[in-house]
Amino acid sequence: MTGYADVVAGFRDHRRLSSDRFRGPFARDIGQSTTRYEELVEFMRKWMFSTDRPTHTRLRSLVNTAFTPRSVEQLRPRIRELVRSLGEPLRGGHVVDFMTEFAFTLPIVVISEYLGLPPESRHEVRRLSEDLGALIFVQGNTADRFANGERAMNGLVELIRPVVRARAREPRDDLISGMVHSDVDGESFTEEEVISNAALMVFAGHETTMNLLANGILAFDRSPEQWRLLQADPALARTATEEVLRLAGPIKALARWVREPFELGGRQLKKGDRVLLVQHAANHDPAAFADPERFDIRRWPNKHVAFGSGIHTCLGAPLSRLEAQEAFTYLAAEFRSIEVVSSDPRYVPTVVSHGLRELSVRFHAR
Ligand code: HEM
Repeated sequence: MTGYADVVAGFRDHRRLSSDRFRGPFARDIGQSTTRYEELVEFMRKWMFSTDRPTHTRLRSLVNTAFTPRSVEQLRPRIRELVRSLGEPLRGGHVVDFMTEFAFTLPIVVISEYLGLPPESRHEVRRLSEDLGALIFVQGNTADRFANGERAMNGLVELIRPVVRARAREPRDDLISGMVHSDVDGESFTEEEVISNAALMVFAGHETTMNLLANGILAFDRSPEQWRLLQADPALARTATEEVLRLAGPIKALARWVREPFELGGRQLKKGDRVLLVQHAANHDPAAFADPERFDIRRWPNKHVAFGSGIHTCLGAPLSRLEAQEAFTYLAAEFRSIEVVSSDPRYVPTVVSHGLRELSVRFHAR
């Protein structure tokens, strides 16, 4: 589905389209070795991302008690400080790979701290999150894809379980404590659900936020007048972030599975079909956005579907928005111009993720 209205309708049709990715078709992808990866499949089926109602309602309402807009807003001073410390080394006027030097580090530190994972495990979390992310974001059924995913799962479980147990005994002011002690009408998370959903948050927010930041820098490089607009009015960081999400959102498409036959977008869907909801196309649909190829940081309203729509709308949206707003505000205040020196920036050729391979940039200080 590529039209805006059809993509939104697809996201919102929770009854006929399922998110339970890892039982049916994904298991088919694994091929003959499904049983070999049973533990991995069960781990991923506990993610709220891959559950349908009513399980999804339970998981999401439990996490919503801890992952609140208020608790995210409280992270602002720390995010500002991190942005500063990562931005400072860009001042030298030398060429840097913005992905590795800035965009890669900010989200992993933020989510690790928010969850309450120990600082000494940061590098490990980063590596494991990448490997787990590759399982979801990269296609191609190489033997390595699943074996690496399984190793990453085991590593993350090993790392997160002790934190979950420690917070069960002695809660702190972090998200894992909030999840462990969350209670909605007598319902609570199991230990396995906390571990699995904490791992989901680590990998779901890492590559995506990194790509939001890098795709934004590339968009500004291609439209220097928009960079100047942001410099003149830093309050535009909010609408600029939305416009980057629309124009070059980090996720291009997500899949759903058909539970019963119906028609969508003029197509007859059969039970068991896989439907791709192509957010990137929806966000460029001229029926929904005037002059859609234009990067216009003042565009408002901007009802893009970069975070999906309906019950699975991105949990981390307020967090990644905050990170991007702080990053763009800081960079526009500190740097007169940005000069992308990669002659031909290339996107990684995958269906889901919209991320650059690298982004060599020279930042010109004011
Ligand atoms: C710019 C960055 C991000 C983008 C573009 C993005 C995109 C998305 C999208 C499109 C969905 C919907 C999935 C579906 O309908 O199948 C989603 C769900 C989700 N995202 Fe994000 N995400 C981002 C950052 C984050 C961050 C920072 C976190 C960290 C907590 C996060 C955690 C989640 C979770 C837990 C879900 C599942 C929600 C549910 O199923 O109820 N995301 N994200």
